[in-house]
Amino acid sequence: MILGSGCGVELDHVHWEFAVSDIPGFVAPSVAGHLGRITAGTFAGREVLLIQGRVHCYEGISMDGVTFQVRLIHELGIRNIIFISAAGAIRATLNAGEMMLVEDHICAQPLTATYRTRSVYDTPWRERVIEVCYGSPVSSGVYVWTIGPSYETPAEIAAFERRGGDAVGMSLVPEAMEASALDMHVLAATVITNGAAGLEGRELKHEDVLRVAGAAHANLTDLLVKAVVQAPQF
Ligand code: HPA
Repeated sequence: MILGSGCGVELDHVHWEFAVSDIPGFVAPSVAGHLGRITAGTFAGREVLLIQGRVHCYEGISMDGVTFQVRLIHELGIRNIIFISAAGAIRATLNAGEMMLVEDHICAQPLTATYRTRSVYDTPWRERVIEVCYGSPVSSGVYVWTIGPSYETPAEIAAFERRGGDAVGMSLVPEAMEASALDMHVLAATVITNGAAGLEGRELKHEDVLRVAGAAHANLTDLLVKAVVQAPQF
């Protein structure tokens, strides 16, 4: 499980934990809200590895640096990967604190990531999670990836909406594409932290994103439990 901006979860039992900066090759995050911690333990009755510390292209990090953690996880023999990030809502029916599972993405900027040969996001896994989330504030939709670090302009959001985008964010897609290219099962979800630029009539601030992501802790934990329990079995 790789968690982004302001998102946190506690494992049921911790085997070990250390700072990502202790791992050679691991680029430590520089953005507030990313702890830079890697933890192994149990969660919802399964063995999991939790990484709280994502890095982004906008931090000036190469694509190889951004996707390093995915290759590390794959090298450890892990085949199911869950990405969580904060996102702004484009779709009018998405509210702050809700979760949106990613069914597909649109890259707003050219992304020279890994060559894609098939659907990036595992459809059966996502559909099982949606089914067991019936009655919870969880939906699915299309994630628009922007390189950041600026939030979008209202005109960009209007254009993304016309193109079929449901939520917008600056992470997740490069790593999801790398994981998919490594034949891993990918489940990605966003915590909706705000209405996208121009939709709420106020300036977007990273502190507000972190605050709302933190407040959505219970919804996120609930989704992660279901995601882990529904993960493909080998
Ligand atoms: N835009 C881009 N990234 C984000 C947003 C947003 O509105 N909210 C949280 N991450």
